[in-house]
Amino acid sequence: MKIYKTVRGLQNYIASLRKSKKRIGYVPTMGALHSGHMSLIQLSNKQCDITVCSIFVNPTQFNEKSDLSKYPRTFDADSALLKKNKCDILFFPGVKEIYPKDVDTSVKINFGKLDSVMEGAHRPGHFDGVAQVVKRLLDIVKPHELVMGQKDFQQVAIIRLMLTTLKMKTKLVVGPTVREAHGLAMSSRNERLSKKLRHEAAVINDTLLWVKDNIKKYDISTLEKKAIKKMTLPKFKPEYFEISDGLTLQPLKLVGRKKYVVACTAVWAGKVRLIDNCILINILD
Ligand code: PAJ
Repeated sequence: MKIYKTVRGLQNYIASLRKSKKRIGYVPTMGALHSGHMSLIQLSNKQCDITVCSIFVNPTQFNEKSDLSKYPRTFDADSALLKKNKCDILFFPGVKEIYPKDVDTSVKINFGKLDSVMEGAHRPGHFDGVAQVVKRLLDIVKPHELVMGQKDFQQVAIIRLMLTTLKMKTKLVVGPTVREAHGLAMSSRNERLSKKLRHEAAVINDTLLWVKDNIKKYDISTLEKKAIKKMTLPKFKPEYFEISDGLTLQPLKLVGRKKYVVACTAVWAGKVRLIDNCILINILD
């Protein structure tokens, strides 16, 4: 596995691969890698000739300074895991490489209502930061395929809108959420949970699955209330639980004949904020 810290080094190498017609897949990450990230590396390997992974803890997407400073940084373990999973190139830039003074990295897209709900509503500015860094990274890597996780459902919707609005050529590929044995969605933040809380956090996925099983039985407002109640436990505090249109992410009052419906939630487990989601209905062609 080749490791590059500079844009120039990375681009020189990728240019040579592109000349020899290699299809390039790209998995952007913030490190503290786990099996969820590795599933995306494997997906990219399956679809492309070359897989690039980046590790960059992007300061512009953290609305809480303490969340940024507490974000785990585990480079040695990360690069060993990437090597083991046959990642070809690791890009590990510093802040000055991504945000140099002489490059305008701003992204001026109106995400409209997509950005005003759920994570967008609770983490002001978060998706502006995500769009900014993903655009900058795509401009650097110029991959054929961008591989992201369904775990961050709203992030995928934002990036999809960005790719179409800016007419970018990269194809977006979405991989399913990888879970711990008891159902908790894998996340770099899980490492900050005590053993007990990590075990109890299975309630999030259990609740999402319960809602999926009962989607026909109760109306949406009842389902949301019951879900919040199930996840309100000592040390557990749901921030939101929303059943939404899977394309627009706008809250639904009725499922009706909707073809694509998702439930998304954010829950505080002690001092750790966890997010998860579940597609409740998907009968799109
Ligand atoms: P990060 O949280 O490191 O996640 C990197 C990618 O891994 C994202 O596409 C995310 O959805 C995916 N991922 C995380 N947990 C997963 C799981 N349990 N199963 C499957 N995929 C999972 O998301 C970010 O970083 C950043 O916002 C980033 C896109 C890199 C921009 O800074």
